[in-house]
Amino acid sequence: MKFFSRLLTSVTLVTAVFAQSSSVDSYIASESPIAKAGVLANVGSSGAKSQGAKPGIVIASPSKSNPDYLYTWTRDSSLVFKALIDQFTSGADTSLRGLIDDFVSAETALQQVSNPSGSVSTGGLGEPKFNIDQSAFTGAWGRPQRDGPALRATAIIGYANWLIDNSNSSWVTSKLWPVIKLDLDYVASNWNQSTFDLWEEVNSASFFTTAVQHRALREGAALATKIGQTSVVSGYNTQAGNLLCFLQSYWNPTGGYVTANTGGGRSGRDSNTVLTSIHTFDAAAGCDATTFQPCSDKALSNLKVYVDAFRSIYGINSGISSSSAVAVGRYPEDSYYSGNPWYLSVFAVAEQLYDSLTVWNAQGSLNVTSTSLAFFRQFSSTVATGTYASSSTTFQTLTTAIKSFADGFIAVNAKYTGTNGGLSEQFDKSTGSPTSASDLTWSYAAALTAFGARDGFTSPSWGASGLTSPTTCSTSGGGSSGGGSTVAVTFNVQATTVWGENIHLTGSVDALQNWSPDNAILLSAANYPTWSITVNVPASTAIQYKYIRKYNGAVTWESDPNNQFTSPASGSFTLNDSWR
Ligand SMILES: *[C@@H]1O[C@H](CO)[C@@H](O)[C@H](O)[C@H]1NC(C)=O
Ligand SMILES: *[C@@H]1O[C@H](CO)[C@@H](O)[C@H](O)[C@H]1NC(C)=O
Ligand SMILES: *[C@@H]1O[C@H](CO)[C@@H](O)[C@H](O)[C@H]1NC(C)=O
Ligand SMILES: *[C@@H]1O[C@H](CO)[C@@H](O)[C@H](O)[C@H]1NC(C)=O
Repeated sequence: MKFFSRLLTSVTLVTAVFAQSSSVDSYIASESPIAKAGVLANVGSSGAKSQGAKPGIVIASPSKSNPDYLYTWTRDSSLVFKALIDQFTSGADTSLRGLIDDFVSAETALQQVSNPSGSVSTGGLGEPKFNIDQSAFTGAWGRPQRDGPALRATAIIGYANWLIDNSNSSWVTSKLWPVIKLDLDYVASNWNQSTFDLWEEVNSASFFTTAVQHRALREGAALATKIGQTSVVSGYNTQAGNLLCFLQSYWNPTGGYVTANTGGGRSGRDSNTVLTSIHTFDAAAGCDATTFQPCSDKALSNLKVYVDAFRSIYGINSGISSSSAVAVGRYPEDSYYSGNPWYLSVFAVAEQLYDSLTVWNAQGSLNVTSTSLAFFRQFSSTVATGTYASSSTTFQTLTTAIKSFADGFIAVNAKYTGTNGGLSEQFDKSTGSPTSASDLTWSYAAALTAFGARDGFTSPSWGASGLTSPTTCSTSGGGSSGGGSTVAVTFNVQATTVWGENIHLTGSVDALQNWSPDNAILLSAANYPTWSITVNVPASTAIQYKYIRKYNGAVTWESDPNNQFTSPASGSFTLNDSWR
């Protein structure tokens, strides 16, 4: 890409914009097949760079030292396969089906691998990474990372919806749903526990994790309805509502950006938030700010604040105008490998902008609000708040400039792309040379999805349209928002279980599934051997219940008599039981 950088510095600004567009076109033409091959090389067992990986296992990078990334991460693998599944289901590449089936099989097996986070029933689904032979990684690590199960569910749900549309629901019910349900039950039970963030450093709550968990439960509830697995629907939707409410709290109205993590002691400006917008993009939701859609005023304001955080800290950004694209990294306080730009972060900025353009063009208008004004003023210093129809000069001016701004980020990556189109994890903030892990699978996948977004590609809707956040945030499940008064009751039961066995709860009221063993509520094993769940039950009511064990399809009830209590008139209540 040396040719391109010489070109940019040797022509005038006006021709540079034109030259940029055609250079970006030619970069994409050459880089697309390289990125696709780069992804496929890193999927076992036949990928050219993934020797030793089991079929369907995605290696993060072939790099074995400085750094050693020859592992499989649930997050990276799921994001990569989401991109491949979109290519398959859209008809862009029908050859991928076998590989997708391998991925599902590999993840089905990984779910069952006991690991330092637990077994499948005691929190093991939150384990971030595994060895590429599918054994547990037992070294010290930032665990658990609770975005992984949500992202994996989202990827597999995309495939499931295609199979249903193509007359193969039985495969979904028998093979995919059990895997999806384990992940979603984990999310529904554990979303309100702290997690390591996507960079594996901060242990708190994390915007990306909250958002992808919300998405997964919404589309999981919709899938469950489609295939008649109705018992989970209300629980998933209730927790999705809780997540959407919590999601709002990350917005920092004073700073005009989304705070990436609730802990960590940083400014909170972070690529985490841009990745959230692109990975929860739903074109059907327009520019909805509740779900932080790419073209929402909050997400655009956030994008400007995030990008601007990198203008003065990287040598390679010096001399670039304050409204032009620059190299961006994970977060400005980053010190990993001295803190450099990341290819996937740069691609994500471009992708958010392309997604926005797609929606504005489809809707035939764009809105400038007081929240997004600073973002739009980068492109027209006099623009005022208001709605601009696509026929207006303002719409034309803004969208042309934003397309060029977006292309500028692709041009940044183009300029620093390695020899033969290779994309590593980072490029040096002073020299621009590729650094850290070579051939990062996620970098290649990020290239593919950004290029697709530039062409106007949109993934199927996940149901983001028309959602409203509850006015007060709750952390409890099972309750309905209207109707008679309810109280939150936490059921704790001490129960030792064997590998693969789970504890559920059912009882004499609707909220406890009316003695149905099939629909019994799964308890969380986050504090194993204490299993727990909080359920909203009717207030001032005598309630009977029992715990049941489920193992390999077999159900074992607690012995008689039933447990019983009377719920209080208000407040909350905790029951401390032991399995009997
Ligand atoms: C359903 O999809 C699975 C996974 O690709 C495939 O193995 C199976 O043959 C399909 N069944 C039918 C009836 O198409
Ligand atoms: C749990 O949810 C509540 C209510 O939204 C929120 O205040 C709290 O920060 C959350 N904690 C975690 C770790 O998710
Ligand atoms: C602009 O705002 C109006 C009113 O809030 C809304 O109906 C419309 O969908 C918005 N359009 C876009 C593209 O955001
Ligand atoms: C259960 O234990 C909690 C915490 O130790 C306590 O606050 C609560 O009162 C106990 N519940 C009952 C019914 O004894």
